[in-house]
Amino acid sequence: MADLHIRIDRGTGGFAGQIATELRESIRGGRLTAGTRLPATRDLAADLQVSRGVVVEAYEQLVAEGFLVSKVGAGTRVTSRTAARPAPRPREPAERDRRASNTQARPSFYGHRPTSPDLGHFPRERWLAAVRHVLTTVPSDAFDYGDPGGVPELREELSAYLRRVRAADVRPEGLVIVGGVAQGLSLALHVLTQRRALRLGIEDPTSHRQVPLLRRAGAHLVPAPVDEEGIDVRALNADAVLVTPAHQFPTGVVLSPARRAALMEWAHAGHRIILEDDYDAEFRFDRDPVGCLQGLAPDRVILSGSVSKALAPGLRLGWVAAPPDLAEAIRRARGELDLGSPVIEQYALAHFLRTGGYDKHLRRMRREYRRRRDALVGALAGELPEIRVRGIEAGLHVYLELPPGWDERRTARAARELGLSAESVGPMRELPGPQAVVVGFARLPAHKAAEAVRGLKVRMSGQDVD
Ligand SMILES: Cc1ncc(COP(=O)(O)O)c(C=O)c1O
Repeated sequence: MADLHIRIDRGTGGFAGQIATELRESIRGGRLTAGTRLPATRDLAADLQVSRGVVVEAYEQLVAEGFLVSKVGAGTRVTSRTAARPAPRPREPAERDRRASNTQARPSFYGHRPTSPDLGHFPRERWLAAVRHVLTTVPSDAFDYGDPGGVPELREELSAYLRRVRAADVRPEGLVIVGGVAQGLSLALHVLTQRRALRLGIEDPTSHRQVPLLRRAGAHLVPAPVDEEGIDVRALNADAVLVTPAHQFPTGVVLSPARRAALMEWAHAGHRIILEDDYDAEFRFDRDPVGCLQGLAPDRVILSGSVSKALAPGLRLGWVAAPPDLAEAIRRARGELDLGSPVIEQYALAHFLRTGGYDKHLRRMRREYRRRRDALVGALAGELPEIRVRGIEAGLHVYLELPPGWDERRTARAARELGLSAESVGPMRELPGPQAVVVGFARLPAHKAAEAVRGLKVRMSGQDVD
């Protein structure tokens, strides 16, 4: 039986999470190898002086993540897959953050941003295979400075993918590879604001993290309200607009057919530009995703997307599809600003797309996220029916409109203290709106949802006391 050397920090709580983290690290670092049998939960609990339930929870988490297998009669063992390549690696940022994080709040078991994917599901093996393929097949010359618009192989694969999956009307030469939607928007606005002063309509509420980059690119921001159908097109007084039609952030509204038509009309009539952030398009749960706006008006729409939700934000890989003259201007701007994106990752993504790995991963994650969403939405309906849950058709977060008397900041704080990733919506709006919070479910295992929501109910039922 393995001697586990687990250290618990008794000052911070969240013991199950701490034990799971220590075990995960030991497996990844190769200290616990394939097939190693772990101590019985009762024995480990006694060693660590915690309740048995805490150890059961930690083991269950690692079984769910695929690090351990548990069989009646054979105990709990390290799986062979995870230990096949026992290379030491740095801690995951979420784990590191959790460890370094405050002492008041319980360490977040589920990550910090409500919009982040579950990074524990990053397809490490398949990505490694893609990088290995690149390093063994691509000629050395390919690793020189390349086209600032991106590696041609990736532009080919992506344009085929976007045509097939997003009904985009895009050719490889109309695509520029960038470091995520954030950089794509920066570059596009940089080009547009150099041509003319730009009043940019933005959705209200909107992604507050994007606002500084939009301003820095020189745009004058003009908020327009979002209702049950999406952005109110009649309220738009601007030269261009930035929208998230597939799943509005933060309300989660999918732009209605009538509003799509109105937005198209608005753009055509005034020769205006639509910046389409294809946010959350990968994760539409209850029916097929709606095609992107760009496919309807490729001469008016600049589409940007990234692998931040599908794979990981840290890859900083994304794309912009634009009308030919703008695509060329964006490509040139990229060349002048910083000479382009890293090429090995671009080749790896091209390989991943070509061999079907990307689709396969998305199919798997869609099923998993749907399970997690259903668990959270079900728990909310059962325990807190007074909350209005919106935006559940797609994406990795839900938007909760709070009942009278609930304060959004306190609710978000209480949710975070329970380990949920949650943010209040106030900082995301300029126009008045209801008290609301955004709660992410990507890192909330389905079996944890009910407990988390019950915890929230208990905390919020005492909220008028202080
Ligand atoms: C609505 C929205 N779109 C895009 C992004 C940025 O995505 P990327 O990682 O592709 O730059 C964010 C990040 O906060 C966001 O909130």
